[in-house]
Amino acid sequence: MKRVAVVGAQWGDEGKGKVVNYFAKDFEWIVRFAGGANAGHTIYVGDKKYINHLLPCILPDGTGRGFLGAGMVVDLEQLVAEVEVLAKDFPGVGTKFAVDPEVFLVLPWHKQQDQLLEAMRAEPIGTTGRGIGPAYTDKASREGIKLCHLFDEKMLTERLENSWVIKQNLYRGQFSMPPAELAGLLMRQRDRLLELGVQVTGAVDMAHIFRSTSVLFEGAQGVLLDLDFGTYPFVTSGSCMAHGVSSVGFSTFELDDVAGVLKAYTTRVGEGPFPSEDDTDVAQGIRERGKEYGATTGRPRRIGWLDLPALRYAAIRSGLTSLVITKADVLNGLKTVRVCTSYRIGGVVRDVPSTSHDFFVAEPVYEELPGWRTTDDVNFLKYMTFIEEQVSVPITYISYGPHTDEMETKSRLIMNI
Ligand code: GDP
Ligand code: IMO
Ligand code: MG
Repeated sequence: MKRVAVVGAQWGDEGKGKVVNYFAKDFEWIVRFAGGANAGHTIYVGDKKYINHLLPCILPDGTGRGFLGAGMVVDLEQLVAEVEVLAKDFPGVGTKFAVDPEVFLVLPWHKQQDQLLEAMRAEPIGTTGRGIGPAYTDKASREGIKLCHLFDEKMLTERLENSWVIKQNLYRGQFSMPPAELAGLLMRQRDRLLELGVQVTGAVDMAHIFRSTSVLFEGAQGVLLDLDFGTYPFVTSGSCMAHGVSSVGFSTFELDDVAGVLKAYTTRVGEGPFPSEDDTDVAQGIRERGKEYGATTGRPRRIGWLDLPALRYAAIRSGLTSLVITKADVLNGLKTVRVCTSYRIGGVVRDVPSTSHDFFVAEPVYEELPGWRTTDDVNFLKYMTFIEEQVSVPITYISYGPHTDEMETKSRLIMNI
């Protein structure tokens, strides 16, 4: 049975949603396994655009189904809203989704806490404000609320009361929704979710199904935002790597392919080191042509050139076995493109940073390559070959537009040249 993981190979927003949606026709299940509504995965059904923050990027009019795995942190208000938007165009689509009862919930308190923490930080992270850090913090400190707790009202009330006392003490009474009110809200959201047809089923009960069919794992964020290996502390709080599939009961050894999605250039939204960042007019042009504004917060994304040391690091850290390159069309028409080929770290030139700290002190070393008119141009083929040789991972697919069908295999592209 085919099992593939699609993960971001840079700082997120590489086009994972589009790529997953393109592959979706060949898979029975599309599984999100980490992150929460900080993600914004853009897909098109025909000409209509949808941004999935929590829902896996299934084909809403297809036969495949979506699963929200236990490594996620789920904001029920957002989940209900997303299913409702989709259900307007695709009645009954809610029945195509199942959520693991072990997922931790993002509560209104967490979103408030996210803002309070950012305001207190000397160097804010530039979070999405979606309550992700505080929800994962509560999970680790054992104050979290799981979806399964909503099926035991007594336990839910006790846990919320306990958490409320701790939070109000730590934050000097700044939270506004008392536990009884929150419990009522959560129960209503749970009921609405069930009314929309979304199932609550765990990976344990799903194990026999997942193991007898094809599964596509949809990563969130990108390796350089990973809690453990990204540019800490300017990272998210969940796993952005293929090994996150363990929260759905799989080992990476069971995956046929770990596809890393990368843009033909690099972007980053939020604060933190970004060695190949460029703020010239060329970068401004790329931002406008590539519509580089955050799918979750609308913030302008920072723009930079392709960063091979970062990509090599991502390939090693997340065990990438193939690459999918997106948005090459955005660079169409540039006379030359710059590529960061190595970092100078403490006077030493290195191909791969050894630690996440290296990103903070790296000076980029660039090479300039000829640009291309369109992605059918031989210079684009040379660009891809250069990346493959430099990163030692093959590029399998090329995406050249935002729509689902604007994608092809590298071999087909070569045939057209
Ligand atoms: P994700 O978070 O990795 O799913 O990526 P986002 O959806 O946040 O951002 C990617 C943006 O680029 C979205 O607006 C997509 O519609 C768009 N996109 C994806 N692939 C391509 C491509 O090959 N070319 C162009 N021009 N846009 C693309
Ligand atoms: P997708 O899945 C890009 C960034 C935020 C911030 C940092 C921490 O769409 O690629 P958080 O709210 O998670 O605590 O924010 O991580 N970030 C993303 N950047 N794409 C994402 O997801 C992101 N999710 C979080 O901007 O810098
Ligand atoms: Mg995104």
